Amino acid sequence: MADTTLMDKLVSLCKRRGFVFQSSEIYGGLGSVWDYGPLGVELKKNVKDRWWRAMVHARDDIEGLDAAILMHPKVWEASGHVAGFTDPLVDCKTCKARFRADKIQDAQCPQKPSKHPGEHSTCELTEPRLFNLMFKTFMGPVEESAAVIYLRPETAQGIYVNYLNVLQGSRQKVPFGIAQIGKAFRNEITPGNFIFRTREFEQMEMQFFVKPGADAEWFEQWREIRMGWHHALGLNPARLRWHQHGPGELAHYAKAAYDIEYEFPFGWNEIEGIHNRTDFDLQRHQAASGKKLDYFDQAANERFVPYIVETSAGADRVTLTTLVDAYREEQVEGETRVVLGFHPSIAPIKAGVFPLVKKDGMPEFATRLYHDLKRQVPAFYDDSGAVGRRYRRMDEAGTPFCITVDGQTLQDGTVTVRHRDAMNQDRVAADTLAGWIKERTGD
Ligand code: GAP
Repeated sequence: MADTTLMDKLVSLCKRRGFVFQSSEIYGGLGSVWDYGPLGVELKKNVKDRWWRAMVHARDDIEGLDAAILMHPKVWEASGHVAGFTDPLVDCKTCKARFRADKIQDAQCPQKPSKHPGEHSTCELTEPRLFNLMFKTFMGPVEESAAVIYLRPETAQGIYVNYLNVLQGSRQKVPFGIAQIGKAFRNEITPGNFIFRTREFEQMEMQFFVKPGADAEWFEQWREIRMGWHHALGLNPARLRWHQHGPGELAHYAKAAYDIEYEFPFGWNEIEGIHNRTDFDLQRHQAASGKKLDYFDQAANERFVPYIVETSAGADRVTLTTLVDAYREEQVEGETRVVLGFHPSIAPIKAGVFPLVKKDGMPEFATRLYHDLKRQVPAFYDDSGAVGRRYRRMDEAGTPFCITVDGQTLQDGTVTVRHRDAMNQDRVAADTLAGWIKERTGD
């Protein structure tokens, strides 16, 4: 059963605390497009930074890239997206709603939500038609004569068309990878579930170039590495699983594919795909561009077009996963405490700094400490209301440590550190605090 209450609570918390807002809200919102507020932008950035660190900085065999969103229109013909990146759609002539033909059984009839489209007496569904998911736009000043170009529906193609450029500049040798984080756009027919499926989103993709024949082994290695990354993000392993694509599910470019799925309140769903794309993309670009895209292996004195193992995660989807996984409610002293129990490395704010009371020099000490801390880790100063209330506000924001300056601080220079999850307290010397926090957050 879908736990819609939990999603409703999360969406409302995200708006209230400044994680995620609907795009263009004052105009009624734009369907399935979302903006990240002050806490959300930090959370998503931390997710992306952890990915970049693991995939680029920590490895000798992967280089980074930032390719443009707009690409030559022939890229999308060669990649197969113009012809094949489609969903089958049906329209209801009565209510004018549009549904994915292959998802009718998951959809509700707008006229009678207890029924599926087509089941109500007045429904009149059309035959399925193929609908391309790419957004089109025009390049050049005059719309009629301008070239039609597309907003990229995946970041991967920017990597394929640049792989020889990267190879030359970096002195890498096959096997090696190219990683990229960037926006992608899809005119999804059934977007929804908050930031799970949106029309504008960010991908964290890595394409690993290998010798044909070595692909199956690298595919297995990358599966293991990527699942390990999600575990290291602090996600509950019991809520993660593999889904292997059957022959009917495989994308047009894939020989083998596994999804990493997470158990959301609305069911198990994909957060990352690992694909064996073979030499499909490079062969297609080689044929369409007329440029050789093969690789010369000096040691073996042979040429080949590399096979590609792709790892493709959605930054927004992983961010949603961290929010869902972290959300919990607990009863504390007769009150409900809402906590976002993020792994400290992705928490948007690492430390809340409070003076116990607004007198006796405590605010001055706390302000100095806060400014010093803020230069090193994201911190937040709060002196309003009872300390218990300030803890609750930080719990909701997912802040792992709350620092209180009290009477003892003025005598011996130590502060109270309260831990978000266990709610226990330590005393730490104020002048060692930044290092103490960084040790625990990996900053
Ligand atoms: N380059 C391969 C590729 O794009 P995909 O399975 O279509 O494969 C990869 O997408 C990942 O991108 C998904 O696992 C998901 O995390 C994210 N993603 C795809 N479509 C999305 C959407 N409409 N909204 C948010 N994230 C999306």
